[in-house]
Amino acid sequence: MAEPAEIKFAKLAEPTSGSAVLLTDQGLKLGPVSAALAEKAGGAFARAAAASKFDGKAMKTLQLLAPSGMELDRLTFGGLGDLRKLTPQDWLKLGGAIAGAAGGESKTTVLLEKPSGRGVTAEEAASVALGIALRSYSFDRYKTKKKKDNGDDGPKPRRYTLAVPDPRAALRAWSTASAVAEGVAFARDLVNEPANVLGPIEFADRLKELSGLGVEVTVLGEPELRKLKMNALLGVSQGSARPPRVVVMHWKGGRAKDEPVAFVGKGVVFDTGGISIKPAAGMEDMKGDMGGAAAVSGLMRALAGRKAKVNAIGIVGLVENMPDGKAQRPGDIVTSMSGQTIEVVNTDAEGRLVLADLLTYVQQNDKPSAIVNLATLTGAIIIALGNHNAGMFSNNDALSGALTKAGLATGEKVWRMPLGPEYDKLIDSKFADMKNVGGRNAGSITAAQFLQRFIENDTPWAHLDVAGTAMGSPNSETNRSWGSGWGVRLLDQLVRARYEGKKG
Ligand code: BES
Ligand code: MN
Ligand code: ZN
Repeated sequence: MAEPAEIKFAKLAEPTSGSAVLLTDQGLKLGPVSAALAEKAGGAFARAAAASKFDGKAMKTLQLLAPSGMELDRLTFGGLGDLRKLTPQDWLKLGGAIAGAAGGESKTTVLLEKPSGRGVTAEEAASVALGIALRSYSFDRYKTKKKKDNGDDGPKPRRYTLAVPDPRAALRAWSTASAVAEGVAFARDLVNEPANVLGPIEFADRLKELSGLGVEVTVLGEPELRKLKMNALLGVSQGSARPPRVVVMHWKGGRAKDEPVAFVGKGVVFDTGGISIKPAAGMEDMKGDMGGAAAVSGLMRALAGRKAKVNAIGIVGLVENMPDGKAQRPGDIVTSMSGQTIEVVNTDAEGRLVLADLLTYVQQNDKPSAIVNLATLTGAIIIALGNHNAGMFSNNDALSGALTKAGLATGEKVWRMPLGPEYDKLIDSKFADMKNVGGRNAGSITAAQFLQRFIENDTPWAHLDVAGTAMGSPNSETNRSWGSGWGVRLLDQLVRARYEGKKG
């Protein structure tokens, strides 16, 4: 929400103003340009390193005020650790660490040369830039008393020049990666926004803006949803004064004959639980119950922004789950768009009701070759996996394998959980085709089984339960925001590897 960091590329050379970042390894070795610059600071680097036990380990930083006589303000040394063990993700984290260490100065030049003397590749430079951009995000819209430069540990938007051997190649790589950064920021904004500001209509309005990037955006309102018989989704929404929206986004970057891949997101703009109301403590977090929809939206923005060669569909169900005189009751039975009937035993298990109709809609309308849905679906997945992996449920080994790989490549990790007929049985209902909860045990799995009942003809499908990752995750080098934008980079990487045939 704050101004994004400004990032430029220049030829590797000694900076003459602002601050400099120099890369070092665990032997405190520097590349030639950096070494020459450090030389000008006399023995200051060696003395400071010894005094502060800085050992050049990966992601550690050491800051020096430039000694008098130098034209620079500050020198920051960034550790790379053991160069042989550097992974693509380390460059991303390094960018985050650099942005985190950047102080109040106006301009930071990052000397991107390896201590071995070799400059970094364009891809590595773009990863550093992405790390800087992700770390520089902050949501400060509602802070009317802007914090002073001191005392605020959040990094400010700043100007960075990344000095590399081939600035043009790096800029080209960054023009792709920056679209991803924008997609993540878009998703984070949506998650952080309070529900009084971001209802279904306002969310849909933000998505309409994606048409400026070439995304075809269709907004379905209540009369249309009724006509489509999306009664499972409508039942969730009926207790809210704010009407629902379903937004369908088409990005057609592939060949006309290529089957599309579909991304489906739970967009409960606020989840009180409905008549099965939630306890008060922590309920404010339920403004983030649209984290799945936010990730799908951010992904569509990233794909369009980088003109991905893929046909992708994003579909989000935007509703508010409220208790009210008109709200759905426990025990109500609804007929979903698929024709299957559902006994709503617990109105707080609303996400699966929304997703059910979206899944049916996208299969009937677009015949996707694969479906990935994302949802802050169950508290139980947080108990199982905490904040460091999303739960993945899938009917297809190839798709889930590709997601696992994309997770490892981006750091947005997924952990596959089981599905099976023993679990499916738990949601059989006395009165209808199924009920929307399966009891206390295996809550994340029975939720996934519910969704699977809406997958037709074994279409390759994966459900990601992002309740633990979309919001409130611990601070990392690349994220200080409550709403993490989790999933945008994962799915962008999935699209690259599985649908565009590109590597990391
Ligand atoms: N939105 C919640 C799940 C959730 C919990 C997301 C905590 C993020 C943090 C979901 O709609 C829900 O209420 N699930 C219930 C299901 C239960 C009623 C079967 C849950 O997890 O308790
Ligand atoms: Mn709920
Ligand atoms: Zn919910």
